[in-house]
Amino acid sequence: MNTVIEPRDERSQPARIVAGYPQTPWRNPRQPLVKRQPTLSELSGPLEVAKRVKLLGGDIAGYGEHQAIGQLIHLRVRVLDEDGAPVGGAMVEMWQANSAGRYSHPNDDDHAPPDQNFHGAARLLTDQSGSFELRTVKPGAYPVPTKDGWWRPPHLHFSLFGKVWLSRLVTQMYFPGEPLNMQDRILNAVPDVAARESMIARYLPPAAEPYNALVFEHRIVLRGRAATPAQPP
Ligand SMILES: [Fe+2]
Repeated sequence: MNTVIEPRDERSQPARIVAGYPQTPWRNPRQPLVKRQPTLSELSGPLEVAKRVKLLGGDIAGYGEHQAIGQLIHLRVRVLDEDGAPVGGAMVEMWQANSAGRYSHPNDDDHAPPDQNFHGAARLLTDQSGSFELRTVKPGAYPVPTKDGWWRPPHLHFSLFGKVWLSRLVTQMYFPGEPLNMQDRILNAVPDVAARESMIARYLPPAAEPYNALVFEHRIVLRGRAATPAQPP
């Protein structure tokens, strides 16, 4: 792995302060960044993350015999490093709202119904080709608790642990053709068009097998020039 840390690319990473998104000043440093060499632990760890937490699998479209409410989707994702090589054994965590746009979390309690068959969280490992799959339901849009009528488009949240801390990435994935994508302050905080589009999954024709679901394909790049932009958790 390339251990050089390049300066933050201001075009392909989100703007530090986003108008109308009140949390951004708290989440970003007020002082200029300081360049330093990576430490040994950043280059070598964390080791075997998956042994320290429980894997949950990637089939979260329902619990037990009950299907979650919503459009069934089959998502196929490939995880690559900065050289375009697949990252096998990466731990992937995903969380999302249900089809009505509500998270299964105590902080989300005000606008849409919960679905008792949907908890909206997956944790799994990529295979040796850097791939993983999710069977889930398409999340709904939801209103952000600001006073000016901002709704988030349907999206999935991802946290990925690559080989070492330097390849840690927290990001989001969006769906193609969603009208709310055009006005979303988080997606559009990334100035570069190609970088923004790299966060939008590709729609494939629905397939009867294996799930008779809507099929989407996506790619996540953990580091380097083509890195998928970071997005808030
Ligand atoms: Fe969200």
